[in-house]
Amino acid sequence: MEPASFKDLERTGWIAKASTYPLGFGGATKGAVDPLLDAVGVSRGTRLLDIACGPGDGAGRAAGRGATAVGINFAPTMVELARRRFPEANFREGDAESLDFAEASFDAVICAFGLLHMAEPERAITEAFRVLAPGGHYAFTVWAPPERHQFYELVFSAMNEYGRMDVPLPPAPPFFRFSDPDESRRVLLAAGFDELKVDEVPLVWRYKSAESVIDMIYKSAVRLSMMLEHQTADARERIHQAVIEGAGKFRQYGGYAMAVPAVLVAARKP
Ligand SMILES: C[S@@+](CC[C@H](N)C(=O)[O-])C[C@H]1O[C@@H](n2cnc3c(N)ncnc32)[C@H](O)[C@@H]1O
Repeated sequence: MEPASFKDLERTGWIAKASTYPLGFGGATKGAVDPLLDAVGVSRGTRLLDIACGPGDGAGRAAGRGATAVGINFAPTMVELARRRFPEANFREGDAESLDFAEASFDAVICAFGLLHMAEPERAITEAFRVLAPGGHYAFTVWAPPERHQFYELVFSAMNEYGRMDVPLPPAPPFFRFSDPDESRRVLLAAGFDELKVDEVPLVWRYKSAESVIDMIYKSAVRLSMMLEHQTADARERIHQAVIEGAGKFRQYGGYAMAVPAVLVAARKP
């Protein structure tokens, strides 16, 4: 039997985690929706495509602005959840790397925290370009690199100290590849986009208790959970303890919150 590819593992992971994702990182990613919709100019009548829509907030909020909004995701459980949450938008199963839409079908395309989970993100960018009408806008978000992102800084330093980062997962693009504005510009220009803009969006991740952070990693992250599952039992336990101890330091107003900024990249199809 062929070993599972990175894409297979991601898809299986997202199918399993759809119902718990909104309680974890989905709570933080929602903050990027309006900046993304503003970046692509969504208003009444805009034809909007939300790629890797997850629980549906991008397309759902675009429909709330009067747009004709479509969301696609390769995990059927996410599509079902999005449909239940936002009946006014249209959600369907689909692959970002091979979109099932004719060229020039949309005025605006967004992809919130999707590219960093894809095996072939260049294909997803070329596909976004193809389905956009000339003059249409594209915008995506990815996480800022660990040096500015309190959650990744905490987890990756614990993993470096007590375990290993080079676990045997199938080959995949680097997680923070598009957090680098030069790399994003290079790939978008090569796909044919112009009018490139890069901004940082200051998001916050709130959580109930330091211990709940571990639970949320396993319930709402896919690659990171796999990296933890591949540690030895001893290393994993030490990493958990270090993360809990670190997470306990971000106390605010009776709860906890970490700064989890996003990089927002926007461009236009000439
Ligand atoms: C971190 S979640 C982001 C969800 C949502 N956009 C948000 O901002 O919360 C990543 C999503 O990308 C989806 N995804 C990953 N690769 C995909 C692909 N090739 N085609 C469609 N969806 C994909 C996953 O199913 C998952 O729902």
